[in-house]
Amino acid sequence: MTDAMVSQPGYWARKRYFELYDRSLRHPEEFWAEEARKLDWFKTWDKVLEWKPPFARWFVGGQLNACHQCVDRHVKTWRKSKVAIYWEGEPGDTRVLSYSTLYGEINRCASVLKNLGLRKGDTAALYLPMIPELPIFMLACGRIGVTHTVIFSGFSAQSLADRMNDIGAKLLVTADGGFRRGNVIPLKEIADEALALSPCVEKAVVVNRVGKSVPMQRGRDFWYHHLLEDAVPSVETVSVESSHPLYILYTSGTTGKPKGIVHSTGGYLVFNHSNYQWVFDIKEESVYWCTADVGWVTGHSSIVYAPLSHGAAIVLYEGSPDYPSLDRWWNIIETYGVTTFYTSPTAIRMFMQHGEEEPARHDLSSLELLGTVGEPINPEAWLWYYKHIGGERCPIVDTWWQTETGGIMISHAPGIQLLALKPGSAGFPLPGIDAAVVNESGEAVAPGEKGLLVIRKPWPGMFLTLHGDPERYKQTYWERFPGSYHTGDYAVKDEEGYFWLLGRADEVIKVAGHRLGTLELENAVISHPAVVECGAASKPDPIKGEAIVLFVILRNGYEASDDLSKELVAHIRKVVGPVATPERLFFVAKLPKTRSGKIMRRVLKAVASEVDIGDVSTLEDGASVDEAKAAYEDLKKAV
Ligand code: PRX
Repeated sequence: MTDAMVSQPGYWARKRYFELYDRSLRHPEEFWAEEARKLDWFKTWDKVLEWKPPFARWFVGGQLNACHQCVDRHVKTWRKSKVAIYWEGEPGDTRVLSYSTLYGEINRCASVLKNLGLRKGDTAALYLPMIPELPIFMLACGRIGVTHTVIFSGFSAQSLADRMNDIGAKLLVTADGGFRRGNVIPLKEIADEALALSPCVEKAVVVNRVGKSVPMQRGRDFWYHHLLEDAVPSVETVSVESSHPLYILYTSGTTGKPKGIVHSTGGYLVFNHSNYQWVFDIKEESVYWCTADVGWVTGHSSIVYAPLSHGAAIVLYEGSPDYPSLDRWWNIIETYGVTTFYTSPTAIRMFMQHGEEEPARHDLSSLELLGTVGEPINPEAWLWYYKHIGGERCPIVDTWWQTETGGIMISHAPGIQLLALKPGSAGFPLPGIDAAVVNESGEAVAPGEKGLLVIRKPWPGMFLTLHGDPERYKQTYWERFPGSYHTGDYAVKDEEGYFWLLGRADEVIKVAGHRLGTLELENAVISHPAVVECGAASKPDPIKGEAIVLFVILRNGYEASDDLSKELVAHIRKVVGPVATPERLFFVAKLPKTRSGKIMRRVLKAVASEVDIGDVSTLEDGASVDEAKAAYEDLKKAV
């Protein structure tokens, strides 16, 4: 160490951060045990980690309850009268729930679940709008040891049915509708279609959200408010072992079938409790707003489990960001005095496109810290966010993580030490996270060189397995680089150790931060009678990050036309859901394939993006450069 180094700005801050980081990697079990003691366990664990690669169990033998962590614990303190949830519906209706009213609601909800016959080890599917009942049902499930699966309300009946069948859900909870951009999403009607395809589901509970009459099947469907009439006010928490599955959340991968990511109770809660403190520097007076939908992992960890485990006040908003006008979000920040605001780069780019006048009309001075998640953020959007939302006073945490990781892995951590920010970089791995950028053979690449992001040690928030498919869990995530978790993302670590995340290296597309698998999209299109084959790719989109482009081969006897194109778009929206709306659709006579019959993904991507084949990162398809070039020329001519 030289004097010149010590006097460099940030030297001591970096030193402090990296000392903690190094200690966490040298003694991970001690480190995580110390973190785990911050939660309230009914019984302490016998063993911090049981690592039978690639399966990890954290805090083995420890007993706890998720609802107890997030609610009961606070109700025993002064926080009982603290706001837990500020809720705003899209039409402007509001509800404020204190920790004690939330506690009461959850207890009655748990009683309803029990009266319907649900017990520890059962699973329930939640298909609800962003209303307080969504976290209430999640926590009520946790209270009695029922594993929940939340299905984003933008998914179709088929997607809902597939998930319910895969998980073997006994119960479906839905609503008579939800408000979105002034319209009512007919959730119950969609749920009815799904129920017809899901024989495992015995009962359905319907929350009255929009006050509309919906078909109710006698003996199967029940209004929630009717069931509440028989509910008791207090239901005991069920103690579960640390690895008891708290929830299963479906996400897209490289095969046609979404994967059920299984998260534990103990490891998951410890991990989120800690990294929430580190990343969001949560304080007693924080008013925390994460704009994600609870249907995604961000909503699970960053709306429900992490902030509530800290006894924070959260904001929950039902509707669209631009309804009835473009200042809806800024109005909410001003109304509730939001201090911590966490959103997606897509949303920021959307607002940026409309200019700074809307946020400028509101007092956003309560904000202290901003965050982003779900996709890479471009420096222009970062700077706009910093200036026009954060008033050049709020640090921005760009948080990298995945459904599988359960919580934030790479991010700045102002709760430990704020280090110099670089727009577009997520910063550093959090304590306990052994992240590295490696080449195809698994060796760490030089600083500044692009490679694949891997995690070389287990961490408490990691998923337990893929529901019903431990083999696929092993193959997809752990076989490529034995001993390391393969994230599927490209990254660069620069000379100063900052990580830059560069998007997916596999066949996963991110549209407005929503994760979709190319094969899943292709299967959906092929299920239309006019289609024999389909290739899905993405192109860069200035707002949504990526947009879907389809290459479709028609069956003999069908003619390409605008009407058929529209019909196919409607079909994919129906099969997967509106999240999967393609931006463009080309009719082609053949698809670019390798000799072994695999679609050459990078050729589709280059043509979809209107760039040269050499400008596309090599997506793994086994084709040679010459093959890919020839196929690229062919396809370009065809579209
Ligand atoms: O490609 C990465 C991108 O989102 C993927 C994970 O998607 P999902 O499981 O839906 O979870 C999203 C929310 C946690 C990653 O593999 N991603 C997530 N965060 C970032 C990101 N890409 C760049 N920067 C980020 N901060």
